[in-house]
Amino acid sequence: MSISVPKVVLIGGGQIGGVLAQLCAIERIGEVVLYDIKEGMPQGKALDIAEASRVDGSDVRISGTNDPICLVGADIVVVTSGMPRKDGMSRDDLLTVNAKIISEVAENIKQYAPNSIVIVISNPLDAMVTLMQRVTGFPANRVIGQAGVLDSSRFATFIAWELGVSAKDINAPVLGGHGDTMVPLVRYANVAGIPVMEQLLRKYGSAEKAKDVMDKIVQRVRDAGSEVVKLLKTGSAFYSPATSAMSMIKAIVRDSKRVLSVCAKLNGEFGVKDYYIGVLAKLGRQGAEQVVEFDLTKEEKAMFDKSVEAVKTLVGDMDRLGI
Ligand SMILES: NC(=O)c1ccc[n+]([C@@H]2O[C@H](COP(=O)([O-])OP(=O)(O)OC[C@H]3O[C@@H](n4cnc5c(N)ncnc54)[C@H](O)[C@@H]3O)[C@@H](O)[C@H]2O)c1
Repeated sequence: MSISVPKVVLIGGGQIGGVLAQLCAIERIGEVVLYDIKEGMPQGKALDIAEASRVDGSDVRISGTNDPICLVGADIVVVTSGMPRKDGMSRDDLLTVNAKIISEVAENIKQYAPNSIVIVISNPLDAMVTLMQRVTGFPANRVIGQAGVLDSSRFATFIAWELGVSAKDINAPVLGGHGDTMVPLVRYANVAGIPVMEQLLRKYGSAEKAKDVMDKIVQRVRDAGSEVVKLLKTGSAFYSPATSAMSMIKAIVRDSKRVLSVCAKLNGEFGVKDYYIGVLAKLGRQGAEQVVEFDLTKEEKAMFDKSVEAVKTLVGDMDRLGI
């Protein structure tokens, strides 16, 4: 009999990595290893989480380390190593400092965990996923990024507040790069299958007012990361990014074929080739198993293309810097 316990290695044990480690324990993901360059920190967090196992019933094997050899045997590697932004910074401002860290981490993943599926969270997201795939040389389905699950959850949450319903019943996809040009897809946003715009029209009785309310929600989604940074002052969002990454880990480990918004490499879909960008993809044991294509209106496609251009500029900057 062969029973395999999935091994998840979290590279970066900071704010997101720490919360994600606890979520992995609560979700009984199997074996969880928290890795960071800060001595004692990942060990301390892992011990703290493990000591709750009697109370949360997690029964998980969890450890912390400063040795990259922990990557050996990893099925999934989640990368949060790098700087978060501070108030006044854009995600793109992190490019140079985080690219160095991601290159180093990618070399370790390539060496020690050559068969793993890698989920990158570090910003600027689309560029860091691109770099991860370049350095590891892994097939594109095994290197993906988390951003869209979070952006879509933010979109759904704001709609839910507006309509006074559970966010669980809202589906509100966001495509494009994880930056100011992201594309919340208003036309596809629905509450239990009913278009949100239809519900807003009923609520306000005026198409103009409904559009105005939705425009404000869309802008808030685009600014949501900065809104949290402004309040926290010392870093960026971490509970919601960790929870979003958890949904991707579960979809992969459980081979559930969930269709989630993720940063995946396109091969002609939506008219884009060889660039990583946020799209809907089916997640399972093979990682991003299929990009889900669907029709975009001229306006939606124009917004998507603008976002692709922003990602291309960022990747171009990386190339110019020789990263
Ligand atoms: N994709 C998203 O949705 C999303 C959302 C929020 C934040 N982020 C990004 O995620 C990243 C992590 O955010 P955070 O709040 O957890 O930051 P954090 O500063 O709390 O944690 C980052 C950790 O990385 C570690 N680190 C640095 N260099 C390393 C290396 N070479 N190897 C291993 N670990 C290393 C640091 O010691 C630190 O503990 C940031 O880049 C942030 O911008 C992404």
